[in-house]
Amino acid sequence: MVAGLRDPAVLDRLLYGAPMAHRHPSRLDELDEGLDVRPQFSREGETVDIPRRKISQTSVAPETAYQIIRDELMLDGNARLNVATFVTTWMEPEADKLLQESAATNMIDKDEYPQTAQIESRCLDILADMWHVPSPDEPIGCSTTGSSEACMLAGLAMKWHWRRRHHLTGQDAQRPNLVMGANVQVCWLKFCRYWDVEARTVPVRRGDTVMHPEDAGAACDENTIGVVAILGSTFDGAYEDVKGIAAVLDDVQRDTGHDIPIHVDAASGGFIAPFLDSELEWDFRVPRVLSINASGHKYGLVYPGVGWILWRDDKSRPDDLIFHVDYLGGDMPTMALNFSRPGAQVVAQYYCFLRLGHDGYVRVQQHSRDVAMYLAERISRMGAFELISDGSDLPVVAFCLNGAATKTGKPRKGSFADKADFTVWDISDALRTGGWQVPAYSFCADREDLNVLRIVVRNGFSRDLAAMLLDDLGSAIDKLSGSGKADKPGAAFRH
Ligand SMILES: Cc1ncc(COP(=O)(O)O)c(C=O)c1O
Repeated sequence: MVAGLRDPAVLDRLLYGAPMAHRHPSRLDELDEGLDVRPQFSREGETVDIPRRKISQTSVAPETAYQIIRDELMLDGNARLNVATFVTTWMEPEADKLLQESAATNMIDKDEYPQTAQIESRCLDILADMWHVPSPDEPIGCSTTGSSEACMLAGLAMKWHWRRRHHLTGQDAQRPNLVMGANVQVCWLKFCRYWDVEARTVPVRRGDTVMHPEDAGAACDENTIGVVAILGSTFDGAYEDVKGIAAVLDDVQRDTGHDIPIHVDAASGGFIAPFLDSELEWDFRVPRVLSINASGHKYGLVYPGVGWILWRDDKSRPDDLIFHVDYLGGDMPTMALNFSRPGAQVVAQYYCFLRLGHDGYVRVQQHSRDVAMYLAERISRMGAFELISDGSDLPVVAFCLNGAATKTGKPRKGSFADKADFTVWDISDALRTGGWQVPAYSFCADREDLNVLRIVVRNGFSRDLAAMLLDDLGSAIDKLSGSGKADKPGAAFRH
């Protein structure tokens, strides 16, 4: 043993590293006094002492608990002005009612809630039809808490297939890898780390924002369990070329014999492409596509958390990933990672399918795309910005300072980006004063020199709101450039 390792402090440090902050930082953590209860809510003479970080000894009335929490939640951002998230922030009152009424249902308990189970299976039928499952009569899939869980299941199925094939052919099955663009969502890096798979991330070429099919093919070998293609990159909303990737993998199979499947991470695009890009072949029409996931709580138009996973056929989902339980009554096959989870969101997903129908989804998604493209066009006309995406795939607009997107990573000489003495983070901060949450971030690995802002247009984000956001974006630029500085307190307020 290395001498230093006998020292528990050294061993501890090597095993666990330096202590890391796991909490979202908040100055409230420093407050040690209890929660404040407004006078109307405490009874005459009663001292209400509710500790902040321990369960209190005594109970309080429901309205007191409600008031305390409600007051605190006022400080959360306004979800409708949050254009950072892909997740649904508005549903109709009838959907709210159904959600409330089915809040107590447990999706796993199919014996107690057979109608909820029936509704889940109808949703799967609808998705199977939308995504062109070859034999849609008995779709193989399930609902999940979101795309992350769905991606874990898809990744596991690919790993199981690969391992079984390697065992049958007497090949080593110790070092699986998964090929994906550096622009993947973090859930894929989690999958690889949690399940001991090498994350083989393909750099995004300069000038591109998503993985190039040729680069995906070049990264594959006999240990590749699959390739992830993203329908709607989180970074800028661009679709990856599923058919192009499949064609390259056909060549790989012809040249090497490796038969590598594709999983399509259609977290957002799974509910956009079927309605707006019906000609685009990205789904089970492409024979190499083994499985597809989508988030019902993104463009599926449901509040968080519901996701979906479907496999091509019953051969695509290994049986040994399914467990059978009988302690809730009846035989219950289960594959999801979670056991208990809400049934309400699945009910709300069915509400959306029923309420909107195909044409309704087309109208809602087209409106979001129109608003995104309107925003993109206006932003590009401002002069201060350059578009990275224009909302024509997912309704997402990513943009950087004009002149910042170059092959060298340095701003073009004399451009707006070159002259500006502020960053996209300053713009994001300035927009916050108007309540807008527009994230600023560096692009994916190998393109970190590119700093962008991103606006995700969702159901409920109208053209009027977009116009107000544009107005505030223009003011932010004026102010940061010095031309619109407030010369006396309050001068920046306009009514
Ligand atoms: C492409 C992609 N995959 C997966 C996820 C994870 O989805 P969820 O939040 O539903 O777990 C996201 C979330 O933004 C995403 O954009």
